Amino acid sequence: MQDLDFIVRAAKAAFAAIADPDALEQVKARYLGKNGQITALLKDMGTLAAEEKRKAGAAINQAKAAVEAALIERREAIRQAALSARLAEEALDVTLPGRSEAQGGLHPVTRTLERIERLFASIGFAVVDGPEIETDFYNFTALNTPEDHPARSMHDTFYLLEEDGSLAEKVLLRTHTSPIQARYMQAHAAKHAGQETMPEIRIIAPGRVYRVDSDATHSPMFHQVEGLWVGENVSFADLKGVIADFLRRFFETDDLKVRFRPSFFPFTEPSAEIDVAFLRGTRKEGWLEIAGCGMVHPNVLAHAGIDPERYTGFAFGCGPDRLAMLRYGVNDLRLFFESDLRFLRQFV
Ligand code: FA5
Ligand code: MG
Repeated sequence: MQDLDFIVRAAKAAFAAIADPDALEQVKARYLGKNGQITALLKDMGTLAAEEKRKAGAAINQAKAAVEAALIERREAIRQAALSARLAEEALDVTLPGRSEAQGGLHPVTRTLERIERLFASIGFAVVDGPEIETDFYNFTALNTPEDHPARSMHDTFYLLEEDGSLAEKVLLRTHTSPIQARYMQAHAAKHAGQETMPEIRIIAPGRVYRVDSDATHSPMFHQVEGLWVGENVSFADLKGVIADFLRRFFETDDLKVRFRPSFFPFTEPSAEIDVAFLRGTRKEGWLEIAGCGMVHPNVLAHAGIDPERYTGFAFGCGPDRLAMLRYGVNDLRLFFESDLRFLRQFV
């Protein structure tokens, strides 16, 4: 049975030379397939005598078993090799530094707004909201602003045009948060009409406002926080107290220079602008205006349906972007709105 030994050795050598599982199955067919060499030997046995047939059959079956065993062994070896290769490829180096998720953070102006809301909430102010696209009526008229006031000009205010380019209905991007005062007072007065006493109004209204403005302390889109306290016996002293207390808490210092500078707004009387002192570098001191304020004008109260003989109130409109400039030492307010990550990352 020289032939059989040779076939078995040849089969083992052929299997060993193969690393691909599909190629291995094809080589298998050369020995064990329908037309394979071992299958052919089994077929040829038909011509042998009975005694010879028995002996040859046993030898061929033994050879067949040897080839099958070699095949199974090779299959397993190929499978193991593939597995090891995959494991090596997917290996984890647990000593490498971790890759953390990129961390986001709140925008410095958002943080400032949240801080303002928290501080005012702590003294009983509710936070309310109003539309950014406003009518000329609430932005100006209800606030006692005369027809020819310069703020109403196209140079200062973004008006929204009709489809045909006309200005028929005057709609604009609100230039301040003060229209929320007018809206809120009107709704509040209507809600409590006929009651003996109107409950106090104590609100702040933060939001975006728009003006044709651009320099280091002016951005065309900026934020304001309106404040309003209306009740019986609300005075200018209350206004000063609330603002002074707020600023001390906002900047976390008692050593803050604040001044109320007489000013004019059509919707308050008397009126003032509030300035906070800051250091330019370490030498020269300057003042930055952070808010306008005053006692709500009797015409504005009356317009909203509140009796100006009985109720008084103060209002203010402050610039949180300016407060953020002072708190974080930023010298150009427009940086807040340029979305430059090198700038914004410093606040995370
Ligand atoms: C007003 O807008 C008044 N409505 C404020 C007010 C409310 C007065 C209630 C009385 C009663 P003024 O134009 O001064 O006022 O703006 C208020 C604050 O907004 C300013 O003090 C400043 O801090 C901020 N501000 C104004 N224009 C800009 C701008 N272009 N960019 C950034 N902040 C601005
Ligand atoms: Mg001003």
